[in-house]
Amino acid sequence: MKLSLRFVLPLTLVLAVFAWSIVPLVDRLTLRWFVRDMDIRSVLIVNTIGESLLEQIAAGSKVKTLNFFDRITQDERLYAVGYCATPESAPLASKLLPVDIRCDNLARFETIGGHVLKSARGLFHVTVKSMESGGMAAGKLVLVHDMNFIERRSEETRRYVFLFFVGLAIVVSLITVIIAQLSWRGWVEGIRALLRGEGLVRQPEVKFVRPEFQPIARDLQQLIRELENDARSRDEGQTNWTAESLRGILQGELRGDDVIIVSNREPYIHQRKGEHIEVQRPASGLVTAMEPIMRACSGTWIAHGSGSADRDVVDKRDHVQVPPEKPAYQIRRVWLSPEEEAGYYFGFANEGLWPLCHIAHVRPIFRSSDWAHYEAVNRKFSHAVADEAKTKAPIVLVQDYHFALLPRMIRDLLPDATVITFWHIPWPNPESFSICPWREQIVTGMLGSSILGFHTQSHCNNFVDTVDRLLEARVDRESFRVSLGGQTTAVRRYPISIDWPPAPEMVAKPVADCRDEIRRANSLPHDHALGIGVDRLDYTKGIMERFRAIERMLELKPEWIGRFSFIQIAAPTRSSIDEYQSHEAHVRALAVRINDRFSRSGRSGPPPILLKIEHHEPAQVYEHYRAAELCFVSSLHDGMNLVAKEFIASRDDERGVLILSQFTGAARELPEALIVNPYDADQCAAALHLALTMPPTEQRDRMRLMRRLIADFNVYRWAGRMLLDAAIMRRRGRLSESTTVATSGGSNG
Ligand code: G6P
Repeated sequence: MKLSLRFVLPLTLVLAVFAWSIVPLVDRLTLRWFVRDMDIRSVLIVNTIGESLLEQIAAGSKVKTLNFFDRITQDERLYAVGYCATPESAPLASKLLPVDIRCDNLARFETIGGHVLKSARGLFHVTVKSMESGGMAAGKLVLVHDMNFIERRSEETRRYVFLFFVGLAIVVSLITVIIAQLSWRGWVEGIRALLRGEGLVRQPEVKFVRPEFQPIARDLQQLIRELENDARSRDEGQTNWTAESLRGILQGELRGDDVIIVSNREPYIHQRKGEHIEVQRPASGLVTAMEPIMRACSGTWIAHGSGSADRDVVDKRDHVQVPPEKPAYQIRRVWLSPEEEAGYYFGFANEGLWPLCHIAHVRPIFRSSDWAHYEAVNRKFSHAVADEAKTKAPIVLVQDYHFALLPRMIRDLLPDATVITFWHIPWPNPESFSICPWREQIVTGMLGSSILGFHTQSHCNNFVDTVDRLLEARVDRESFRVSLGGQTTAVRRYPISIDWPPAPEMVAKPVADCRDEIRRANSLPHDHALGIGVDRLDYTKGIMERFRAIERMLELKPEWIGRFSFIQIAAPTRSSIDEYQSHEAHVRALAVRINDRFSRSGRSGPPPILLKIEHHEPAQVYEHYRAAELCFVSSLHDGMNLVAKEFIASRDDERGVLILSQFTGAARELPEALIVNPYDADQCAAALHLALTMPPTEQRDRMRLMRRLIADFNVYRWAGRMLLDAAIMRRRGRLSESTTVATSGGSNG
C-alpha cells in the first residue's frame, strides 16, 4: 500500500501538471476552429440576406431594415448586424451593435477570417463584407457573432481534458505498480545480493548477476572498490597506529557506534586474599591484545566472572569499572554455575575444541552433556549482549573458541549488529575438524558473523575448506566470502599483535637493573647467561620439548653447564582438567631430572632450569624479558603467540635473541628470529648455542627489524583494520537497508 501511494501519487501529479499545461494549447486550437467557423457562417449569411437587404435599403425603408436586422439577430450566435453605406454615414444597425464599431473604423475589422473583438460585454467575432449591386460598391455589412459561448465550452473542455489525464494517470500508475510488484522482489533480491558482495567478483566477468543487473553491479563494484581502497589507503597511510587513531576510526568511520567485546576470560579478576581483595591480570594472549583496544574504545566487555571476589565489587547490573587505577571502560560479568563452567569451559571448550584445533597430539574429548552446557552458556552470553546493546546495531567483537555458537545467536537477537568474530587459535584442516560430532552446528554458528578473523591465511583456507566440505554454503574463494542462508561472512586474516610502544612503566627499569635484579633474586652470578620462557602451563606450548632442547644443548656444549640457566615462568591454567594435571606433573618431573643430571655432572653451580609455576603480573614478566640473553618460544602449534612479540617490545636496548617455533603464527611475521622445529631437539640445541654466542651487532640487526615490524603492525592496527572493514560493511548494509525498506513497503501494499 505504502509503495503504491509512494509511486501512484507522484505519477498522478506529474500527469496532472502535464494536463494543466496542455489546456491553454487546447483552448487556442478550439478558438481558432470557432473563428474559422464564424467566418464561414458570416459568408453564408451575407450570401443569403445580401440581395433582399440591398433591395430594402434601395426602397429606403429604414424601419423595415431595422426590423429585418432584429429578426435575424434572434439567432443564438448572431449578436448584431450593421450596415454602412459610406464611411461617413452612421451605421444602420440592430440594437446591440458594440459602440466600438463605427462606419469610419471598419477597415480595422476587415481582416481575412474576421476579427476577434474583446469588449466590456465579452468576446465577439466581427466580419465586415463589402456589398455590390449591379457591379457597383453598395456599402458594407457588419456581422457580429457572440463568442462568449466559446469561453463556456473551453471551460468544459478544460475540465474534461484534466479529468481524462488524471484518470489516465491512475490507470497507468496501477498497471506500472502491478508490473513493478511482480519484478520488484527479484530486483531487490538481486541488488541486496550485490550489496552483500555476492557476485561482485572481479571484472571483466560479473558472475551470478542477472543480465539486467550488470550495469548496477558494475557501479556497485566501483563504489565498493572505492570504499575498500579508501580503507586500505587509510590503513597504509596511517604510519603511526595508536589508541588515538583507533578512537578516530570509532568516532569517524563508525560514527561513535556502540562497541561490545565478548570473551570468556575477563581482563581483571578480583580475588579474595584473606581480608583483602586483589586484582589480577590473567595470563591470556587474548586479554593482552584486547585490553588496550577496550581502553581506547570505552565500551563494554562481557566476560565470565570467575574471580572469588568478583561478585563483591560489581554494581546491581553486574558492572565494574576498570582499569581500577584509571577507569576507561566497564566489565559486565556473567555468572556461571560450577556445572556450567565444568561443561562449557573445562569440558567442551578446553577438552574438546582446544585439542581439536591444535595439532598437539592430545585427543579431544566430546561429551554430549558438555555440548549442552556449551550451547546454553553461549545463549546466556547472547542475552547479555542484547542487554548491553545501547542501539539495535552495535559492533560486537566475539572472541575465541568459547563462543562458536554466539555469532548466530546474536544475529537472531540483533539482526542489524555487526558481529566480528576473532578465532585466536588455529583452525585445523577439514579432515581433522570433521571428527567433532557437532561440526555443522559449530561452523553454522560462526557463520552468523559479519567478519570472521584468523591469524594466518592457512587458518582462513582451512576454515573455508571445512565449510565447503560440511555445508551447503556458497564459498567465493576469490573474495573469501561465505554465504549461508542469505547472510555473508567475510573470512579474513588479521595477524594479532601487542600494544606498541609498550606502556612506559613496563620498560621504565633500565635493562642493567633488570639483569641484576633477576640474577640476584635467583642467586645467580652476575655474568650468568639466562634464557626465558613465559607460558601458561599448557601442553600446546612445547615446554617439555624446550627442556629437552636445553638438556641436549648442555650435552652437546657442556661449557654452558653451570654458566647458563633457563627461567620458565608457567602460569597455572585449566588445572582441573586431567590432561593439564598430568602435563604439569611431567613438566615438573622433567625439570627435576634435568637439574639433577647436570648438578651430578661434577660441576657445581646453579641448576639449568628454574621452573616457576605461579602467576606473574605483566611488569614482572617484562623485567624477566629484559634480564635475559634469549627467549625461547617452542609451541607445538599456536595461533600467533604474543610472548614472542612482547619479548621484542621489551628490548629497547636492541639486544637479546628470539628462538621461535615454526608452528606459531608469529614465525610468519618474524623471520629474523631463529626459527626452529620444536620436535627437533638437536636443531633447537644448536639454536640455543647460537643465541648465546651471537655477536651484539647481529643481535641488534635482527632485533631492529623485528621491532620495526611490531611498531608498524601493532594491536591498534590489528583492531583498526577489522573496524575499517566493519565500517565498509555497515555502509553497504545501510545501502541494502534502503532497498529492504522498499521491499517491506511493497509487501504491505
Ligand atoms: C588462549 C586462548 C584464550 C584464553 C587464554 C588463556 O590464549 O586463545 O582465549 O583466554 O588462552 O586461557 P584461559 O583458559 O585461562 O582463559
